[in-house]
Amino acid sequence: MNRRLGVLISGRGSNLQALIDAIAERRLDASIALVISSRADAAGLERARAAGIEAICVPHRAFATRDDYDRALVKELRARDVGLVCLAGFMRLVGAPLIEAFPNRILNIHPSLLPAFPGLDAQTQAIEHGVKVSGATVHLVTAELDGGPIVVQRAVPVMPGDTAETLAARILEQEHRAYPEAVQMVLDGGWRVEGRRLVPADPPA
Ligand code: GRF
Repeated sequence: MNRRLGVLISGRGSNLQALIDAIAERRLDASIALVISSRADAAGLERARAAGIEAICVPHRAFATRDDYDRALVKELRARDVGLVCLAGFMRLVGAPLIEAFPNRILNIHPSLLPAFPGLDAQTQAIEHGVKVSGATVHLVTAELDGGPIVVQRAVPVMPGDTAETLAARILEQEHRAYPEAVQMVLDGGWRVEGRRLVPADPPA
């Protein structure tokens, strides 16, 4: 599989950094061809540039519709021959133009054990629900929000005194392990999607 990554961010970029570090430490056999931020003030843009990676801002406000925005993203990703797209704190819903351009080639990381607590503020949702365990999920992106086939999950305990912030920090540590691991798995192949599951590919006949 084409091992050139395109990473989409909107903010801090600590998961982007985890991918950069994993590549530098050769835990992840890939390269980052492009980082795109939906926001010009995303700290992740600086992290990318500091690592010598091309980083651009494509602001969604510049486009009339979500599909137009998605098409602009596809154009930038294709121009760099990206093979796998990694959403890393990208705060935009991705729609059909992007999903169809990269079928089963878009990953997202979410700070809960999906299918529990999709959407925004997953850590607050977990605390308010009173769950004793939460975690991080890396999944393939489909049209269903936070609903695609699960690639990697890592669990953490939820402690009695936790706030959304303390839980988020505990989960984030696991996100930084889970994302490079999941990217490596997807790039290495040997899997297929069956229903909503990622399963080992059939052995050659
Ligand atoms: C992470 O918690 C990720 O799971 C969620 O958004 C946050 C992004 O953090 N999708 P960062 O920008 O990677 O530091």
